[in-house]
Amino acid sequence: MKPPRPEAYPVRTHNGKPVALCAERKATDMTLFSELTQAPADPILGVTEAFKADERTGKVNLGVGVYLDGEGKLLLLGCVAKAADRIAAIHAPHAYLPIDGLGDYLDQVRELVFCADSPLLADKRVVTVEALGGTGALRLGADMLHEVAPGAKVLVSDPSWENHQALFARAGFEVGTYRYYDATNRGVDVEGMLADLRDAEAGTIVVLHACCHNPTGYDLDHEQWAKVVDIIAERDLVAFCDMAYQGFAEGLAEDAFLVRLCAGKLDNFLVATSFSKSLTLYGQRVGALSVVCADAAEAERLRSRLKIVIRTNYSNPPIFGALVAATVLSDEELRTDWHAELATMRERIKAMRTALLTELQARGIDDMGHVVVQRGMFSYTGLTADQMRALRTDHGVYGTDAGRICIAGLNDTNLAKVADAIAAVRMIR
Ligand code: LMR
Repeated sequence: MKPPRPEAYPVRTHNGKPVALCAERKATDMTLFSELTQAPADPILGVTEAFKADERTGKVNLGVGVYLDGEGKLLLLGCVAKAADRIAAIHAPHAYLPIDGLGDYLDQVRELVFCADSPLLADKRVVTVEALGGTGALRLGADMLHEVAPGAKVLVSDPSWENHQALFARAGFEVGTYRYYDATNRGVDVEGMLADLRDAEAGTIVVLHACCHNPTGYDLDHEQWAKVVDIIAERDLVAFCDMAYQGFAEGLAEDAFLVRLCAGKLDNFLVATSFSKSLTLYGQRVGALSVVCADAAEAERLRSRLKIVIRTNYSNPPIFGALVAATVLSDEELRTDWHAELATMRERIKAMRTALLTELQARGIDDMGHVVVQRGMFSYTGLTADQMRALRTDHGVYGTDAGRICIAGLNDTNLAKVADAIAAVRMIR
């Protein structure tokens, strides 16, 4: 049978314009997607894409928050390798996990985040669900909150991890900022932050970086956090703690200070956690969302709601990374190894901060002492977007346009090159 003549094809339209079917399409015809414009590259992962495309030798990627060892290699923790070997040796089938994730993993996460003897756990007030990394945890929380309180506003720190703003906006929220970075005094504008939180409407969701603020590296001290949490309680705000870097500032328990403070004062709050950095499980996407509820019954109702969000997005989470994390955390020997390996990462980052400052000072730069004050993986250098671009194009040193560099990507081999590059671009005004 002959194909029908072109005019016999049904005419489809898009935005009022006829859309040609494949069989008859000319290069100039409209398609469903032909009016789409190119989206900008991701402000962080786009830097990695540009880095990979750079053919120069000696290039340095300080864009993404990934820990590299002293030789510039992506690290596989010994405890993770051992756990993975044990799991592989079992040859277990790849079953579906329950919608909310692997039970042993969820138990371990709750204890790590809230502390094993937390009354919240004894009272079954915490719902923890597995999530696709810290980002997935934030998005699950955002989607759930949007169902419960669609009209609420979200406040993120100024500045914040770029994806915070994008992710909450995509979940349907209006996203604003509270003051955070004090560029003049290089630190946190605590009074500004407290004032903005005091002014927030009841029900506003406040995203807080529990430790190792991303991107600035400036954290609040205990007293300042206490003031923040008091305002959150008084003003009936909703704290959403992002704790993607637990263990990278002082230690696992120390870095959970904010979460444990909230636990003593708030009926409801949320915590997004991740093992991307602390267990170097980046690509396995191992995170969790914990939601604190007023009582056990509320927690069970909340769990049922979160399960719907998960089921309608990706059905149930992946198994391998959660098994690895649960194995490391539940085995005394592996857990001890982990604590030591995490401390090694943390201390190497601190040593690199000091080394970078020394290199900068040797080049006559005497106003970058903040590099050793900041905590966690990142340094907010104070360089402008133009200077950061010059760092990339002229020197092959990649950081984000916001002026953030990942100190965990520095090593003895690339340090001098990075310091040279920073010294050179600082001349650009
Ligand atoms: C970062 O801030 O570099 C990391 O959290 C990776 C990411 O997903 O952005």
